[in-house]
Amino acid sequence: MRISFGELRIGELARRHLQSALEKDWISEGANVAAFEEHFAALFGYPYAVATSSGTDADIAACASLYGLGAQRGDEIITPALSFCATANAILAAGFTPHFVDVELETLNIDPDQIEAAISDRTAAIMVVHTMGKPADMDPIMEIARRHGLRVIEDACEAHGAQYNGHYVGSIGDIGTFSFYVAHLVCCGEGGMAVTSSPEIEQLLRSVKSHGRPAGDIYFDFQRFGLNSKMNDMEAAVGLEGLSEFPETFRQRREHLQRLLELTDDLAEYVHRLDEQPHELISPHAFPLVLKDPSHDRDKLYRYLEDAGIQCKTLFGSLPTQHAAFAFMGHRSGEFPVAEYIGKNGLHFGCHRYLNDDDLVFAAQKLRAYFEGS
Ligand SMILES: Cc1ncc(COP(=O)(O)O)c(C=O)c1O
Repeated sequence: MRISFGELRIGELARRHLQSALEKDWISEGANVAAFEEHFAALFGYPYAVATSSGTDADIAACASLYGLGAQRGDEIITPALSFCATANAILAAGFTPHFVDVELETLNIDPDQIEAAISDRTAAIMVVHTMGKPADMDPIMEIARRHGLRVIEDACEAHGAQYNGHYVGSIGDIGTFSFYVAHLVCCGEGGMAVTSSPEIEQLLRSVKSHGRPAGDIYFDFQRFGLNSKMNDMEAAVGLEGLSEFPETFRQRREHLQRLLELTDDLAEYVHRLDEQPHELISPHAFPLVLKDPSHDRDKLYRYLEDAGIQCKTLFGSLPTQHAAFAFMGHRSGEFPVAEYIGKNGLHFGCHRYLNDDDLVFAAQKLRAYFEGS
C-alpha cells in the first residue's frame, strides 16, 4: 500500500531501551514501563499515568475502576453508538451494560443533547470517545455528569495531544485512555495507558491491571476484579522513542491533515470532512470523510482507493445495529440513524508522518477522479 494507516520505524533510542531490558534478563513490566508512564504523564501534564497492554485494556481498567468508586455490577455506562468496538467491549468485559447514544454527523462524536435522556438510576458513567482525534464536546458533557453525579471516562485512544479549550483530552473527565497500536501517534506495537488526576483512581487502575492486587503488589491478595493488563518492557522501549518524537510526529501529521483538507476543499460538495473549531486542536489520527450523497457508493469508493494503494477503513458504524457482535443486545436498525448513516457512508485513511507531499496530492487526485470522473 502506498498510503498505509501507520508505519513504525524502530530507531536507535528504542534499540537502546530494548537492549537495556535484554541485558537485565527482565522483559516483563519493569524500568522501561515506569519510564514510559513518567514521560507520557510529563509530556501532557497528566498527574498519573498507568500503562496497560492495549488501549482496550486501558478501557477495561478504566471501567472496572468504577467499582472502587461506588458503581455496581450491571450498572450502565453511556457511550457513543459509533466507535471502534473496544469501547463497548470494555464496558461489557468489566461487567457493565453499554447504553448507546447516537453521534453527530459533523463531529463523529457522541451527541451531548441526547445524553440526558439516556440517564437512569442505573447509570454509573459516561464514556465518551474523541473519534478520529476530534475532541468530544466536553463542556456540556461534564455539566450533565456533574448534575447527575456521574463519572466520565474519555477514550482518547485516537486523540493523543488533542486539546479542548486548552486542556489535553484525557484530563477533563475522571480517566482518559490511550492506545499505542501502530496506527496511533505513539506506537509500542501493542500498548495502552490510563491517565487520571486522582490518586485514588490511580491506585484502582494499578490494582485492576494486575489481577486486582493492591497497587504495586505481586503477591496473592486479590482485592477486586482485575485482569493481567500489564505492559511489558519491550513494548515500553519502543514507546519511549515514540514519546521523544511526539512533538515532531504531531506537527508532521497535522501538516498532512491540513494539506489533505486544502487539497480536497473543492470536494466539499461531495463529502463531509472534519472541521477544527477555534476552541480545539484536533489530533491528526487519520483523514475521515463521509459521503453527502449515498449514491456515490462508499463500498465502490473504498475499493477504488484500495486498488490505487490507499489503505482504507470504514468509520466503524453503529456498534449496536450494524455489528453482529452486539446483536444480542436487541437493538433495531434505525435506532441510531446518524451512526448508521456514517457506518454506510464513511471511511478513513492514514495521514502518518512518513507520507510525503506527492502521496497527499495523489490521494486527493484519486478522490477527485472518483467524484468527477476525470
Ligand atoms: C476509540 C478506540 N478505543 C479503543 C481502542 C483500542 O485500542 P487497542 O487496539 O490498543 O486495544 C481503539 C483502537 O484503535 C480505538 O480506536
